[in-house]
Amino acid sequence: MTDQNRKAFIKSYGCQMNVYDAERMGEALNAEGYDLSDSPEDADLVILNTCHIREKASEKVYSELGRLKKQKEAGKEKGKELKIAVAGCVAQAEGKEIIARQPAVDMVFGPQSYHKLPELLKQSNNTKHVVDTEFPVEDKFAALTKRAPKAIKQRGKTAFLTVQEGCDKFCTFCVVPYTRGAEFSRPFEQIMSEAEALANAEVIEVTLLGQNVNAYHGLDKNGKEWGLGDLLFHLAETRPEFKRLRYTTSHPRDMDQRLLDAHRDIPEVMPYLHLPIQSGSNTILKAMNRQHERDDYLRLMDKIRDAQPDIALSGDFIVGFPGETDQDFEDTMDIIRRVTYAQAYSFKYSPRPGTPAADKATQVPEDVKSQRLTELQALLNEQQIQFNRSKIGQEMDVLLERFGKKEGQLVGRSPWLQAVYVDAAPEQMGQMVRVKITTAGANSISGDII
Ligand code: 5AD
Ligand code: SF4
Repeated sequence: MTDQNRKAFIKSYGCQMNVYDAERMGEALNAEGYDLSDSPEDADLVILNTCHIREKASEKVYSELGRLKKQKEAGKEKGKELKIAVAGCVAQAEGKEIIARQPAVDMVFGPQSYHKLPELLKQSNNTKHVVDTEFPVEDKFAALTKRAPKAIKQRGKTAFLTVQEGCDKFCTFCVVPYTRGAEFSRPFEQIMSEAEALANAEVIEVTLLGQNVNAYHGLDKNGKEWGLGDLLFHLAETRPEFKRLRYTTSHPRDMDQRLLDAHRDIPEVMPYLHLPIQSGSNTILKAMNRQHERDDYLRLMDKIRDAQPDIALSGDFIVGFPGETDQDFEDTMDIIRRVTYAQAYSFKYSPRPGTPAADKATQVPEDVKSQRLTELQALLNEQQIQFNRSKIGQEMDVLLERFGKKEGQLVGRSPWLQAVYVDAAPEQMGQMVRVKITTAGANSISGDII
């Protein structure tokens, strides 16, 4: 069999950066003659694009690998070869240990190596196991930029565009600085050439991505430095094709005035901000090495609301960080009450090997973590419902993105990133429609096209 009629299946776990990376891997495989498959069963190559952020996310990979091993063995009896690859952050963190734990794995490569996928596949035809966890971030983006204009066929009407990767902040709970590497900002021209390709592919909503996206400080060919706010102003001015601009994920320490100005002055910048604080306690913030205090965050939230009064605020919270007392937890609840979030993500602290907090003797018992998480999620849920209900009776633009479960139903996004259900014809997929909201639940709102 040649590579011409082979099928590949890519399964992505974790963050939006992984979704972006999986799309780029798919494009590289297309160029190698692979068709992308919707399920692993009929695939010749399965790539698990993994997440290492919490223990649960990592463990999922090994159970999936166990299943794939069985598929590989069953296929072998029928003369069909299955190649298994592990990509992403677990690959970066564990490298060849993955093969030691699951020898059915053929290839392991980290987030900075996937642009070499065609080369790695060739190597794996000749070698039993291929492992690549090098860190040449710049090489990757240069290779992707060369490929982008040809590769982008149809990413739908919404697309991610990675502008920054990695992190130098070293929060004491987090693996990202180890798996994604040091903070790196893609050069300005690379970003604009990918933006042009997206505009040509009729994309109308672009989300700029980075682990620390608002720390973006890329250079152009004249050596001038651009910040994230500058990028948003430039995109709004030069790419009228983009009706919506978003970005994620931000750190409170990198919210500068230019970015606030972008929220205030650019109608295309959507009224949504995901700005994690993790904890509302100054003691815990310090232990987490977040490098700011709760009052800094509260002041920042006020400034953001001044710049864009109807903004939907989102965040991440960790409960049960080592040493967290009842009072520390109360401080987090207090922050949530003060800020009022439109939606948020919350997690139990999960020790990650190699990070400073994992070795602390003051680990919080599992049952206390669970209890705190339940309490915190109840409050966030209440706020989310409140926010969704506040939209009842309003008219808004909704970009239709996918089919709903019910026939005749399409699902889109509001400016505030809410999922919006409407009755619509299939041809309306990908369109921006005007919707009057009639009902609201915890996780979505719905209405009628007007
Ligand atoms: N335990 C629990 N949650 C974590 N996160 C990151 N590392 C951990 C960890 N060790 C959460 C943070 C971060 C989000 C992406 O995942 O809230 O913002
Ligand atoms: Fe992880 Fe902190 Fe960097 Fe975010 S800022 S990626 S939580 S180290």
